[in-house]
Amino acid sequence: MEKIKKRVLITGSRGILGRALVERLKAKYKIAALTHKNCDITDSKKVAAIFARFKPEIVIHSAACTDVDECQRDPRKAYAVNAQGAVNIAKSCASLGAILIYISTDYVFSGKKKTPYRETDATGPLSIYAKSKLMAEKSVRRLVKRHIIVRTSWIFGKGRKGFLNNVLSWAKSKKRLKIVSDKYSSPTSADDLAAALDRIIIRMGGNGWKDRFFGTYHITSSGFCSWYGWARYALKNVKAKVRLEPIGMAQMGFAARRPPFSALDNSKYKKTFGIGLRPWQKAVKEYIKCVCN
Ligand SMILES: NC(=O)c1ccc[n+]([C@@H]2O[C@H](COP(=O)([O-])OP(=O)(O)OC[C@H]3O[C@@H](n4cnc5c(N)ncnc54)[C@H](OP(=O)(O)O)[C@@H]3O)[C@@H](O)[C@H]2O)c1
Repeated sequence: MEKIKKRVLITGSRGILGRALVERLKAKYKIAALTHKNCDITDSKKVAAIFARFKPEIVIHSAACTDVDECQRDPRKAYAVNAQGAVNIAKSCASLGAILIYISTDYVFSGKKKTPYRETDATGPLSIYAKSKLMAEKSVRRLVKRHIIVRTSWIFGKGRKGFLNNVLSWAKSKKRLKIVSDKYSSPTSADDLAAALDRIIIRMGGNGWKDRFFGTYHITSSGFCSWYGWARYALKNVKAKVRLEPIGMAQMGFAARRPPFSALDNSKYKKTFGIGLRPWQKAVKEYIKCVCN
């Protein structure tokens, strides 16, 4: 007899992480892949109706307004999508008893620390984007008992542009590039993060979803670098002849402030689930091989 597949609902399924999640999980689970077009998460009635129809057992909430500067310019939209959208998703999860995995960000921290942030460190959001994502975390904790909050950083993969895809495309057309050298975090492979989330579902499901495993986890590729270091590594790998110049965040005129150092300590995830993600350099190298050949 064929095994009944678990029902997993993924929001933001056209985004960088959402695509990787659908790709990773589609063979094992019955998937509802929500897009902005088929379900605006700010529409609570629509969200509730879709949940009532599909009856997800697990929800991965990845949709968000992720343009940090746009969020700064349009706070109403940022809070509606990132904060209220998460409330709508969380309420629907609570009413069905679904497990909620919420994707959050390293930007919830102020970036003043000199070593990678742990889950227990105090938050200190610097921008509207960060504040709206932190509000979402708080709502998820309040509304859904069986939740997992995954904070991650600098996701790269197929799909929308993103920093790495931009650098690879500039490498073909530009001779000089000015890249920020005073902002540090961890480039994180969307495919590797999707595999980590899959591992959480397998391990926790296999253990009968024990209460002690729910909570907040930091999950990124291993190691960290500046945007400049990331670009230099990528350009070296495509053998691009581009002159790279470091520039400070202050000179960029960004609308939103970013934490200068927001690498995340992954030891809780590694200890709980047995294995961490590979170094960011390995993941970037493999991604470049895949998209540039
Ligand atoms: N990218 C990063 O570096 C990074 C770092 C840390 C944490 N995160 C978090 O990780 C998650 C995934 O990021 P990502 O890079 O995959 O983001 P992404 O590529 O920007 O994808 C986000 C998706 O959300 C959708 N969306 C936006 N507004 C929506 C709405 N009102 N209703 C329904 N869907 C909506 C977008 O659709 P449209 O494009 O059609 O609007 C898009 O497909 C996000 O929660 C983000 O905050 C990302």
